[in-house]
Amino acid sequence: MQKTRTVLVTGGCGFIGANFVRLLRDRRPDWRLINLDRLTYAGNLNNLDGIDEGAEYRFVRADIGDAAAVEELFAAERIDTVVHFAAESHVDRSITGPAAFITTNIVGTFTLLEAARKSWSGEGPQAAAPRFLHISTDEVYGSLGAEGYFSETTAYDPRSPYSASKASSDHLVNAYFHTYGLPTLITNCSNNYGPYQFPEKLIPLILHNAMQGKSLPVYGDGRNIRDWLYVGDHCEAVLEVLERGEPGRSYNIGGNNEKMNIEVVTLVCDILDRRLGLPATGMTRRSLITFVKDRLGHDRRYAIDATRIREELGWQPKVGFEQGIEMTVDWYLANQDWVAAVVDGSYQEYYRTMYGAH
Ligand code: NAD
Ligand code: TYD
Repeated sequence: MQKTRTVLVTGGCGFIGANFVRLLRDRRPDWRLINLDRLTYAGNLNNLDGIDEGAEYRFVRADIGDAAAVEELFAAERIDTVVHFAAESHVDRSITGPAAFITTNIVGTFTLLEAARKSWSGEGPQAAAPRFLHISTDEVYGSLGAEGYFSETTAYDPRSPYSASKASSDHLVNAYFHTYGLPTLITNCSNNYGPYQFPEKLIPLILHNAMQGKSLPVYGDGRNIRDWLYVGDHCEAVLEVLERGEPGRSYNIGGNNEKMNIEVVTLVCDILDRRLGLPATGMTRRSLITFVKDRLGHDRRYAIDATRIREELGWQPKVGFEQGIEMTVDWYLANQDWVAAVVDGSYQEYYRTMYGAH
């Protein structure tokens, strides 16, 4: 089959990246995919089980900040499209160890932008319609009070090392559009959930602990609000923006689904009680909820105004929250091997034997 695009997906072994690689394999079989991932703790080759290397797909283990490796890849593969997911992504880790967030999220993004700029402005064969889509977060806009929504024109006001590093990378991406005419696009999405999410984030962590009969840590008063979006809906939005978005623009992506953390946690508990019956203690899983010390600088509320992507590109979420959570619970129940390998660390042994330690 003639390949119509050669797409570099960064971070394709992480949660959203892996879901996106799966979507592309299904929807765009005529695109060649190069997955560049360093396989940090968050990268898991098991997330791409069933996707084999060949003419349509290649995995490259490298750091996005390794300029030589990235530039060589652009030249060798004639990359014409970049979808950049790779990042350090967990706010709590950014509070205890911000350095990696600066290196990967800011310097790594800069390295990719430079490679794209050099490759696409060079003397060599020109890509037909190059595109650089940077995946970002609503957290760059800061924290909302009880009212209001983040739109694409909301001023940036990041408040955690994670969101500050993502905001910096967004600014660099926009600078490359305005200065060099690099055909960039940005998506700023709300909180995702679904299959393959690492059990450090709220929903998979609560799911795992609840199944183990462990306490369920809820930060502060549990009334912080996030706008939850099923990962499959996010990936479809990314594909729309990639194909039909206008370079130089940002697109907010949200679920129109605001929930307090405590509502999310109780819903997960109730679904597990229904699926598995009560634990041996005879107590509902809600009894495991424990309010713990609040996160430093904890943003109170995020909520997305997704009018632009709905009106301009016709995208809107398809999966309702209860349905999405039920699908997610069922995925974790059916994929206990995946969970066990993550929890006991053996998912990393697998790649160490293939690619060496880093
Ligand atoms: P993740 O932590 O699950 O995966 C990140 C992936 O990037 C991993 O496979 C990891 O190995 C890889 N990676 C990290 N550093 C790298 C480096 N230096 N070089 C190459 N690869 C590296 O993250 P995720 O939740 O899938 O998020 C993906 C993107 O989406 C991130 O840019 C994140 O900021 C953004 N985002 C996430 C959410 C969310 O709710 N998870 C919401 C909005 C935006
Ligand atoms: P998280 O999944 O880490 O995403 P983010 O911080 O990027 O929004 O957290 C979602 C919300 O859940 C956030 O308000 C923090 C809260 N939270 C808890 O209450 N307990 C937990 O154990 C975790 C990981 C998060």
